[in-house]
Amino acid sequence: MARKIVITSGKGGVGKTTITTNLGVMLSNLKLKVLILDVDFGLNNLDVVMGVENRVVYDIIDVLKGKCRAKQALLQDFFNQNLYILPSVHLLNNFNITSEQLNFVISQIESMFDYIIIDCPAGIEVGFHRAVKCADEAIVVTTPHMSAIRDADKVLSLLNSYQLNSIKLVINRVRGDLICDGDMFNHDTIKEYLNIDLLGVVPDDDYINLALNMGGGVCKNSKAFDAFELLAKNLHNGERNIYDCTKKYKGVIGNLRKKIRKYV
Ligand SMILES: Nc1ncnc2c1ncn2[C@@H]1O[C@H](COP(=O)(O)OP(=O)(O)O)[C@@H](O)[C@H]1O
Ligand SMILES: [Mg+2]
Repeated sequence: MARKIVITSGKGGVGKTTITTNLGVMLSNLKLKVLILDVDFGLNNLDVVMGVENRVVYDIIDVLKGKCRAKQALLQDFFNQNLYILPSVHLLNNFNITSEQLNFVISQIESMFDYIIIDCPAGIEVGFHRAVKCADEAIVVTTPHMSAIRDADKVLSLLNSYQLNSIKLVINRVRGDLICDGDMFNHDTIKEYLNIDLLGVVPDDDYINLALNMGGGVCKNSKAFDAFELLAKNLHNGERNIYDCTKKYKGVIGNLRKKIRKYV
């Protein structure tokens, strides 16, 4: 049976889709079969980010309408043969999908996968509850900014009312240079404030934006690649290796690098 994990946050734009895609890629690199699924119907960002938008033949609505089986709607990632996407709605459609319907679609294909990663819409409305009801585990994404952390806190209290096997935290867009100068919260402070298990930390990295729309995740020589790899291993093997965003900014060279980043 697949582990079904919802990637959620309170605040929008903190990196849920980025974490979903890159975690999917890294888990599939570990030879695990992964399905990623966008339940933000109508705004199917995931299809666009994974570069499959133009390959979509059937989407989840077609499955629900009985036009095809769930298996037929799956798209294999161009770069990773273990990674699949179930396209969400590629045409604006006011078909109201319930969590029961979504669960029905997932149940048709879950035996094919080790992981099903569900990209949740922002906010705490209907779409959030629909996504969480389909999962056994949750990952809450926040950035190290107070507004995002507060919203993550609200989401955590909602998640606690569900019977989830685990709820873990990922802190995204961390700037090691700012942490060294005391200008950004470090992960221990955020973890303590939210009182939740930390799964990993992802640095702020321009390579992430370069990788968008091409599928395949971030490139191998980027900081984010190492962070996502640790994240996937932590999730799969229960390890607790947290990427150190400050390492690059320590020592004489590191200090110089920090000053350049700050003033250039
Ligand atoms: N670690 C990061 N470093 C740099 N840019 C990032 C990082 N994570 C996300 N982004 C960028 O932030 C924007 C929002 O990310 P996205 O994953 O779409 O957020 P969400 O799904 O939560 O709305 C995107 O442009 C994405 O490229
Ligand atoms: Mg998104």
